[in-house]
Amino acid sequence: MSKITVNGIEYEIAPEQEDMSLLAYLRDELDLTGTKNGCSEGTCGACTVLVNNKAIRSCRFKLSKALEGEVLTIEGLIREDGSLHPLQQAFIDAGAVQCGFCTPGMIMQALDLLHKNPEPDRETIRKAMRGNLCRCTGYQTIVDAVQLASKRMMTPYPPYGGS
Ligand code: FES
Ligand code: FES
Repeated sequence: MSKITVNGIEYEIAPEQEDMSLLAYLRDELDLTGTKNGCSEGTCGACTVLVNNKAIRSCRFKLSKALEGEVLTIEGLIREDGSLHPLQQAFIDAGAVQCGFCTPGMIMQALDLLHKNPEPDRETIRKAMRGNLCRCTGYQTIVDAVQLASKRMMTPYPPYGGS
């Protein structure tokens, strides 16, 4: 039987499950509902998760493509001591959690960016996030949040509660 690792936990996948989308598997089979379904068409970014450290749109990504791979969702960012990941904390501190629905996808997209470029400038952040739609158009605070997280992630013991 095939396997998949989600947030560090290994699961067995039955052949009949392989054809479903990764989004459906996460939400319906694993009850990981932090990953949202905004459009089902690959255009809004709300369903973004990391597969093997790369951001993908899970609504258009077959589970079969993630087999034997590692998936990271918004739930997997919480640390063992229960504290938030710097990106999660920065979105709160910068006031970037607006409607909240699109936030998990934005955070996962931003994580992909910070893996590749730990100190992006504002223009680079805007470009990296342009596939993650925000209907309330509060992009300014989203860019602020990613910059804040980048700053905090550069120090070994960042003061997550403050700026
Ligand atoms: S729900 Fe996947 S891109 Fe919108
Ligand atoms: S924060 Fe979700 S639509 Fe703007």
